[in-house]
Amino acid sequence: MTVKIRVDEKQLEVKKGQSVLQACLANDITIPNLCFMEGMSEPPASCRLCFVQVAGMDKPVTSCTVEVADGMVVHTDTPAVRRLQRSGLRLLLSVHEVDCKNCPANKQCALQDLARFLNVGLKTKRFEHYLKDVGMDDSHPTLTHFPNRCVLCGKCIHVCRTTHDRPLPALAGRGFDTVINFYGAWEPDNIPCNDCSACADICPVGALVLKSD
Ligand code: SF4
Ligand code: SF4
Ligand code: FES
Repeated sequence: MTVKIRVDEKQLEVKKGQSVLQACLANDITIPNLCFMEGMSEPPASCRLCFVQVAGMDKPVTSCTVEVADGMVVHTDTPAVRRLQRSGLRLLLSVHEVDCKNCPANKQCALQDLARFLNVGLKTKRFEHYLKDVGMDDSHPTLTHFPNRCVLCGKCIHVCRTTHDRPLPALAGRGFDTVINFYGAWEPDNIPCNDCSACADICPVGALVLKSD
């Protein structure tokens, strides 16, 4: 089953049940996003970047949480949409240790791509800059985690859950102090990581790095 929608100047026929974000990405329409992954049962909607304006709605909405509907008219590039996306990105960067020269994600980093697309400087001056009071976590035998590079997108948790049924990484702590922690549901001596790098591969920034790299 399909429905017809219009996105900017494009008329699209898209799958019923898709989110606006899925429909746009499937049709090569760029919408900034960090926390969405195909296959998630519920979008976490945590990155607050994927805003669009839907005709008839008074405010921009996150496109990963809104389902397409027949006749829907979507605008991806209004001043209000871009303002929210830029603020969302600047907020992420305000708690991010920007040190691209020394980061393995340099030149293949989602934050760099988003900054370029939204015309936002990586070293934002609009917000105070805060870093968590934690260094790198080297406790895992094959991975190093850098909490101050992590954007808490949850992709590592999702990919580990789908690969190994229960995720090794988990969110720990609260609010600003939330970090990715390991061994949530596993005994440290019995982890499946020696033959797997799914979480490091999916990480959109340089927050999870294989020790062998
Ligand atoms: S994660 Fe991206 S933005 Fe952050 S330091 Fe690494 S390359 Fe730069
Ligand atoms: S470690 Fe990487 S994949 Fe996992 S939540 Fe942080 S940024 Fe996302
Ligand atoms: S992709 Fe929609 S909030 Fe992150």
